[in-house]
Amino acid sequence: MMKPVCTIVTDAPDIAICFAIRSEVFITEQFVPEDIEFDDNDATATHFLLRANGAPVGTGRIRYLDGKAKIERVAVRKSYRGQGLGKALMETIMAHIRKEAKAGKMVLAAQQQAIPFYTSLRFTVVSDEYMDAGIPHKDMELAL
Ligand code: COA
Repeated sequence: MMKPVCTIVTDAPDIAICFAIRSEVFITEQFVPEDIEFDDNDATATHFLLRANGAPVGTGRIRYLDGKAKIERVAVRKSYRGQGLGKALMETIMAHIRKEAKAGKMVLAAQQQAIPFYTSLRFTVVSDEYMDAGIPHKDMELAL
């Protein structure tokens, strides 16, 4: 059993690890263009790093937008998937948003293939399908 520990990133070495995970998952595995994957919002977003048994395994970020908490760039490294680590990551992010209480709801743009993952966390689909970075998405949300 992997012991997951999820922290808010506060220093440059950990931010570099988050970016390396995103690079591995989104750019190398999913072919998202680098200039779309890394954007100006990285400078102001709150970043999360998930470790399991000490190894860096997942990341995600949040930013506040129009009174909503937007969860983005959620990724678990391929060899660590399917063991509840993504769920542990999202639960920490969601608990942080609830604690901050700066938003009425949590929103995200889910890749089509990730919709069952977010549904298992009680998010619901609120849009038609659209393309972003060459990948089909639907917007999902969950009230705080
Ligand atoms: N299809 C169906 N159900 C899925 C699923 C999938 N592709 N991925 C996860 N789930 C379900 C699990 O069955 C589990 O359900 P349960 O709690 O009822 O048992 C729940 O979601 C949690 O799964 P977990 O093992 O914690 O997910 P994970 O560690 O594999 O991480 C992702 C899920 C989506 C973060 C991971 O697959 C990933 O990084 N994918 C590539 C990047 C990506 O697509 N990110 C999302 C962009 S919107």
